[in-house]
Order: sequence, then structure tokens, then C-alpha cells
Amino acid sequence: MAHPIVLKGKKCALVPIEKDDIDLFYKWLNDIEVSRGLSIVTELPLTHAQEEKWFEEKVTKSDPKNTIFAIKDLASEKIIGNVSLEGHELGIVIGDKDFWGQGYGPEAIILIMDFGFNELNMESVFLRVADFNERAKKAYGKIGFKEAGRLRQNVFHAGKWHDMYIMDILKEEYTARNKSQLE
Ligand SMILES: CC(C)(COP(=O)(O)OP(=O)(O)OC[C@H]1O[C@@H](n2cnc3c(N)ncnc32)[C@H](O)[C@@H]1OP(=O)(O)O)[C@@H](O)C(=O)NCCC(=O)NCCS
Repeated sequence: MAHPIVLKGKKCALVPIEKDDIDLFYKWLNDIEVSRGLSIVTELPLTHAQEEKWFEEKVTKSDPKNTIFAIKDLASEKIIGNVSLEGHELGIVIGDKDFWGQGYGPEAIILIMDFGFNELNMESVFLRVADFNERAKKAYGKIGFKEAGRLRQNVFHAGKWHDMYIMDILKEEYTARNKSQLE
């Protein structure tokens, strides 16, 4: 069955995550380039059973504080990643690297933040990003996230410790800068 579209953008849509999608997540997260961006390299290798557990705990349990979608490319209809708001914290992975650097990440973030601000009545959103993750920092900067602080020497990569940035944005800052995708 095709994933029904919940939130639609120009290039991608946010859709429910289904159990069959776990095979993709299993593949993506065991790709060190992807898991490095997520700062979960120390958890590698990830087993299929761990991904199934994540699905049971995060996706199937109805929790209003945990909103999570798969990201579907509208042109190819492929599932290319996922995006979440856990409480006020944003998380995103474009797991299919063929889709990096084409604006999918920022568009998926705008879709879920529209939802968070306009449907869930959120006032602010924050995220964590390692200082070496230049691609993610650039994507977040496009949306208007600003550094709110940093956890010093918090994440180990390529033989040394790096800071973990906390970035945040208020609803008013977000809406002044980004055009809503919701109708
Ligand atoms: C981070 C991520 C969500 C960004 O999504 P995306 O769709 O690739 O984002 P964009 O299309 O805006 O592309 C990223 C930008 O960073 C730029 N970029 C890439 N590598 C870069 C580098 N080393 N230094 C500076 N800029 C870089 C790209 O050129 C692009 O900028 P442009 O649009 O001006 O050309 C996605 O790449 C991803 O999921 N990565 C793996 C997991 C991850 O890191 N998640 C975030 C955890 S905090």
C-alpha cells in the first residue's frame, strides 16, 4: 500500500512510517557517513532487531510529545529519510545519500515545523548538531536556527573531541522567515 501523504511540500511529503520501512533505516544507519552526522557511530553496528525495537517504542506508541514522519520524495515516490519532533527537539535524517544537497532536508524540516508551530501550538524548537557536521549546520542556518549554546568536547570523531551545538528558533522568528507550506 502506498504511504498516504500527511503533509505535502514541493519536492517531498511527510508520511507515516510503516514496519516495512525499517529495512531502509537498517541500511541507512549502518552507513557510517549517515550515522556520523547523527553522532551515533559508537552504537554501530545496529541490528535489525534494534531498529524493530525503535519502531515499536517510538513509532507505534501513540505519544503526543513524539511526532515522527517518514520523508517521501514526490518524484520517485521513494522513502528517503525521517524527521521528528520529540518534545521540542527536532531530529532529521536523509538516509538516502543520493538525495543530499538538493534541499530535501530543509523542506522536510519546514513541513514538520509548520505542523509543530501551527497545529501543535509549539513556541520554540531546538536541535543538537556536532560542530563537524557542516552540511547539517548549513541546512539549519537556511531555516533560521541560531546557536543557543554548546556542550564542549561532547562528541568524539576522527580522533578528537568536538563540541555539540544546541541551536534553537522561536515561532515568531521562524514565521517571519519561512513561508508556510500548510494551506
Ligand atoms: C543534514 C541533512 C539533514 C541536510 O539535508 P540536505 O537535504 O542534504 O540539506 P541541503 O540540501 O540544504 O544541503 C546542505 C548544504 O550544505 C552544503 N554542504 C555540504 N557539505 C558541506 C561542507 N562540508 N561544508 C559546508 N557546506 C556543506 C551543501 O552544499 C548544501 O548547501 P547549498 O544548498 O547552499 O548548496 C542531511 O544531509 C542528512 O540527513 N545527513 C545525514 C544525517 C544528519 O547529519 N542529520 C542531522 C543530524 S544534526
